[in-house]
Amino acid sequence: MSTAPIKQIHLAAHFPGVNNTTVWSDPAAGSHIDFDSFVHFARTAERAKLDFLFLAEGLRLREQGGKIYDLDVVGRPDTFTVLAALAAVTDRIGLTGTINSTFNEPYEVARQFASLDHLSEGRAAWNVVTSWDAFTGENFRRGGFLPRGDRYSRAREFLATANELFDSWDGSEIVADAGSGAFLRDARAGAFAHRGQHFDIEGRFNVPRSPQGRPVIFQAGDSEEGREFAAAGADAIFGRYGTLDEGRAFYTDVKGRLAKYGRTHDQLKILPAATFVLGDTDAEAHESAHEVRRLQVSGQTAIKYLEHVWNRDLSAYDPDGPLPAIDPEVGENTIALGRASVRQFRDPLETARQWRELARAKNLSIRELVIATTADQTFVGSAATIAESINELVQADAADGFILVPHITPGGLDVFADTVIPLLQEKGVFRTEYEGATLRDHLGLSVPVPDPARQPAP
Ligand SMILES: Cc1cc2nc3c(=O)[nH]c(=O)nc-3n(C[C@H](O)[C@H](O)[C@H](O)COP(=O)(O)O)c2cc1C
Repeated sequence: MSTAPIKQIHLAAHFPGVNNTTVWSDPAAGSHIDFDSFVHFARTAERAKLDFLFLAEGLRLREQGGKIYDLDVVGRPDTFTVLAALAAVTDRIGLTGTINSTFNEPYEVARQFASLDHLSEGRAAWNVVTSWDAFTGENFRRGGFLPRGDRYSRAREFLATANELFDSWDGSEIVADAGSGAFLRDARAGAFAHRGQHFDIEGRFNVPRSPQGRPVIFQAGDSEEGREFAAAGADAIFGRYGTLDEGRAFYTDVKGRLAKYGRTHDQLKILPAATFVLGDTDAEAHESAHEVRRLQVSGQTAIKYLEHVWNRDLSAYDPDGPLPAIDPEVGENTIALGRASVRQFRDPLETARQWRELARAKNLSIRELVIATTADQTFVGSAATIAESINELVQADAADGFILVPHITPGGLDVFADTVIPLLQEKGVFRTEYEGATLRDHLGLSVPVPDPARQPAP
């Protein structure tokens, strides 16, 4: 018999966002901008005792063929504004915001997260992403972007600088002694000086140490450098591998990198994104899952998706017909702008060849091919089946838990909260009440201790 202890599962909720997973055409779908939507979603997640609510980020509206790509949900409000407002209407749930390290400045971002951590009483987390493209860069005052190869060198220095700022107060400086007239015990509170390749700043950080010391740090890139960045300094990874084999391979790989940074297995949580379709029975759920895929991949969406690979206008093609006989346009992808996924097709001619072969072998139309080659729902079945699958994957070290991505805004999480969560609680693998107050408590992470040898700037 195995002697491995039973792991507690971490679960979180990703607010349905700007991608074709989110079905906005469903009559049950509501606004993705109104505050009521965020409140409904956050309160459902908190009612279910989930670890945190997650917001993704995109800093420019995507375009395709020179037009705004409006087959997906378009537009999203600013992360800090939403999370600060949610801090006021929730009590325990963590609040995770995705904020890019290429287009921002460490002082500004550290100040925003330290403030959010204060306002939420220790519930803030930062998903550090490194999207670098020139198209997005046009929205920013530097007007440019970063060479792809520098995205992680800037991210590493950005995070190190932000950590210096978070640590620039030790938490005991404020005495506010009316008798002596002294507000500060240590006049050097908040002093910092950072000199590096990307940032050369000194001054005073004006937010005292926050309840978690530093926000919880997430990472979401999948390259070799992304994995090293996570192993060196992240508390959690928002990953993409939700199946047993891929999940275990990723988990083993990334956790195996921790020792060289003096870190232990438990200091980095691996939380893949997971979609789900629930039904009263497994058969009913599979039927609904098929319908959801058809809504996610409309005929127009299928053609637009194919254009990512072909890098050509394919609007004249019939989505219910065969794949184009012409070859993709090789070179830089210029048809789809602002979308990271186009970069995954490194060899479009080879991708087209494989897809033609698959379509021929299985007699698939364009739309059917796109449905077959894009991600299926992670979990499909009755509540009992889904609870069992989640538990099996976590106990088998394919993940430490999942970040749930419902396809309906904002009510898509409700059924999961009402049916799957109680079953996980019955199994004793998911909390029935929050035990701690902060997100670090929920995730089982300790509060970072500032280096006592740190020499603040004079
Ligand atoms: C699961 C996942 C979610 C991501 N979410 C975002 C996001 O919300 N916003 C964003 O700008 N980039 C997002 N990214 C992109 C990563 O930041 C991106 O991979 C990075 O720009 C390049 O790093 P890489 O080359 O290591 O993948 C996400 C990546 C993954 C794997």
